[in-house]
Amino acid sequence: MNVWMGPGLLPPAGLRAELAGCQGLVCLLTDRVDRALLDAVPGLEFVSSMSVGVDHIDVQALSERGIPLGNTPGVLVDTTADTAFALLLAAARRVPEADRFVRDGNWTAANAWAPGFFTGKDVSGATLGIVGLGQIGQAMARRAAGFGMQVLAWNRAPRQVAGIEMVTLEELLLRSDFVSVHVALAPATRNLLDAGKIALMKPGAVLVNTARGGIVDELALADALASGRLAAAGIDVFEREPVPADNPLLALPNVVVTPHIGSATTLTRARMADMAAVNAIAALQGQAMPCCVNPEVYR
Ligand code: DGY
Repeated sequence: MNVWMGPGLLPPAGLRAELAGCQGLVCLLTDRVDRALLDAVPGLEFVSSMSVGVDHIDVQALSERGIPLGNTPGVLVDTTADTAFALLLAAARRVPEADRFVRDGNWTAANAWAPGFFTGKDVSGATLGIVGLGQIGQAMARRAAGFGMQVLAWNRAPRQVAGIEMVTLEELLLRSDFVSVHVALAPATRNLLDAGKIALMKPGAVLVNTARGGIVDELALADALASGRLAAAGIDVFEREPVPADNPLLALPNVVVTPHIGSATTLTRARMADMAAVNAIAALQGQAMPCCVNPEVYR
């Protein structure tokens, strides 16, 4: 068994080298599993990713080779929804901006409490639009209900959930004070919120993304935030990760950023690791993985 202990990410050439002669791969969302890697490791029998998202993996290429892919759905639902709601609140009430203001010594008698001082946006009573009503989207809706929000949702496949009004994506963007993204990144959702869709968003709205970076056009979002058309954003995921220092979102005070920590609690990460291990052990024992993204390989 080869175990990469870091430090840092394992570069593609290193992953190829480590995998030589291995039966299976247990990987993270930072490991790219593409056709080139699969061609270089023809003996690979399974892949188990410690993630629910599998956009770092060429699933079709695995399926063509009959290789099962395991993932870790379910266990990170509430943790990720907590992160999304934390970003929503932080962006609405300008929490990181206010924190920096105090620490930087700017809270002085000349620059103190006043009626318009650090005013943000009310969450209670506002309308939340959920893009993607899977398990995490539904968990987000439950949190929003606790804050007295009206909840709209759009989902690619038809879905009915009590207390949530299903609408088209366009209507959702036009009506929502807050928009939270919860779709998986796939060819059909890449750039789903492009410049045209962002232009539909309500003036003064807030966008939260804890799903994947490639779903939202970052440059169009940065333009809308810089011009003041959108009030704020809470962004946990980026097109390129780690995010390059020149990403325009990082220069904006009305953007709250976190480094892809949606599922980052000790307990949830332990549960994800357990699921990834259980999937791998099943594959090593010649059994079907309990959580398999491409179960057709078993037919
Ligand atoms: C996943 O598992 O895909 C999440 O992005 C991890 O936070």
